[in-house]
Amino acid sequence: MSKMKNSAVLFVAVAFAAAATRAELPETAAAVHTGVATCAASQCHGSAIPRDATGILQNEYVTWTQSDPHAAAYSTLGKPQSQKIAARLGLGDARSAAECLGCHTDNVPAERRGEKFQLSDGVGCEACHGGAENWLATHHNPAEASRDSNLEAGMYPTNAAGARAELCLSCHLGTTNKFASHRMMAAGHPRLAFELDTFTEIWRTLGRQPHFRNDADYRERKAVPGHSYTWAVGLLAEAQLRLDLVASSHFDGVGMFPELGFYDCHACHRSMKSVQWRRLPRHGNAEPGLPFINDGTFVMSLALARAVRPGLYDDLQAALQRLHAAGSESVGAIRAAAASLNTQLSALRAAVTEDRINGLEAEILEAVLETGSEGNYLDYGSAEQAFMAVQMLVIELGDANLEAELDTLATALDDDERYRPAQFTALLEKFRAH
Ligand code: HEC
Ligand code: HEC
Ligand code: HEC
Ligand code: HEC
Repeated sequence: MSKMKNSAVLFVAVAFAAAATRAELPETAAAVHTGVATCAASQCHGSAIPRDATGILQNEYVTWTQSDPHAAAYSTLGKPQSQKIAARLGLGDARSAAECLGCHTDNVPAERRGEKFQLSDGVGCEACHGGAENWLATHHNPAEASRDSNLEAGMYPTNAAGARAELCLSCHLGTTNKFASHRMMAAGHPRLAFELDTFTEIWRTLGRQPHFRNDADYRERKAVPGHSYTWAVGLLAEAQLRLDLVASSHFDGVGMFPELGFYDCHACHRSMKSVQWRRLPRHGNAEPGLPFINDGTFVMSLALARAVRPGLYDDLQAALQRLHAAGSESVGAIRAAAASLNTQLSALRAAVTEDRINGLEAEILEAVLETGSEGNYLDYGSAEQAFMAVQMLVIELGDANLEAELDTLATALDDDERYRPAQFTALLEKFRAH
């Protein structure tokens, strides 16, 4: 009897674990990637104009080729800037260097490349939607396939905020397999910064169309996360992945320094004439002259906690201060502090549900602004994250007066090496007074 009960409990636990299992990323899942050409027929996703026959636009291929930078990610590697980067790193041609292909193409191993697969397609459909081997033939036919059966057959759940965050961050931050190191940046690679909702929506601000349309039919076919929830999930995913990478061998760096790519770039790269050092609340009692781990998304997590779970705020702040204090001790101390901050972030993540976040935009905005009033955006990395949060929240709140101020706020961040915190913070105070 008790044995039966135990196995029933075990069964429930296993079923629950399976439901909570993360979808495997397209680059590592087992399925063959059939190639962009297999998606691009005119009656499939290659229509020249949007169509009405089904709920989806069917011109995704054309939109992707014409206005999605992912389509050009491989050709970027042939440009002089890339060739210079690769030459400085001793990599030969960037178009055949694994160090570059990992993020600029759908670089699955040869045995997972179908007949029509071409590396030159860059970040193609299956780099995000998953290898189509097991769903290509049926996914469009309602008689044979449903959203759920497609996902079971290996389609990646790009609509789910958490899964999307992991997908995008695998290239926009890195993984244990691929990483844009400080060496790469010093050779000429741009600095990476990411915010999930802004980067999902950026097509609109660039005056371009995304390749999917969020209308009634779309929302009926699948779960569509709200903007503020997408933001919250994305920032916690960024923060936690960053801490996981601190625990990985990437953080060992080269020579006597840990990997500088994890640090606040502007701690070292700014003018020496304007001495800006001030003790930030989250840096505890740190002395001048220490570089700090880039913590823009950690700071936003503090703001999020303030609005969503105030009871977590003090512990989270203490864990962040501990991480920074560990910077004057040892790599081992940094890693231990990173692990406990990660635990605090997991507790916050558990409190972040769509129900909890929806409708909380005004409170979150106030928390982000209050965090600024306390002097937390004196560094560029945090200010940049704060800006993307404020922009998303103001647009969500639909306040036309505040929306009109966003451009001015953006200009305060125009030049990262000449960032003037006082100007940015004063502008935020205007938002707060509003
Ligand atoms: C396989 C790697 C990879 C994945 C996965 C990926 N990206 Fe990218 N992304 C890139 C690369 C590489 C570029 C730069 C392309 C270029 O200009 O050559 C880029 C560029 C972008 C840009 C343009 C940035 C700018 O400054 O103009 C946006 C926006 C973007 N990605 C959003 C996303 C989002 C949202 C996701 C997840 C749904 C995502 N990316 C997933 C590799 C990836
Ligand atoms: C960890 C993933 C990653 C790796 C590894 C990587 N890149 Fe990138 N790269 C990106 C992303 C993401 C962007 C877009 C950044 C943005 O605008 O936010 C980008 C942008 C670029 C750009 C600027 C493109 C533009 O239009 O401005 C160049 C050039 C570039 N990468 C070259 C390279 C080269 C050469 C290598 C190999 C030495 C390489 N990248 C390795 C992710 C990566
Ligand atoms: C950088 C990642 C990325 C790439 C590359 C990409 N997509 Fe998407 N795609 C997304 C995201 C994110 C969504 C929105 C979430 C969702 O609906 O699942 C989406 C949505 C879609 C949808 C759903 C539209 C709807 O109404 O249900 C289709 C169809 C689609 N993409 C096709 C394509 C095709 C075809 C290509 C290649 C030509 C492609 N995608 C390339 C990320 C990507
Ligand atoms: C702890 C200090 C420190 C941090 C933090 C740091 N760097 Fe550097 N960076 C250096 C040093 C030292 C050099 C080598 C300078 C030289 O070659 O003269 C350098 C070189 C560079 C260069 C080449 C500059 C040149 O003129 O050759 C670039 C670009 C760069 N870093 C970007 C970044 C980015 C992006 C970040 C953040 C992800 C960052 N750095 C973080 C110290 C730092």
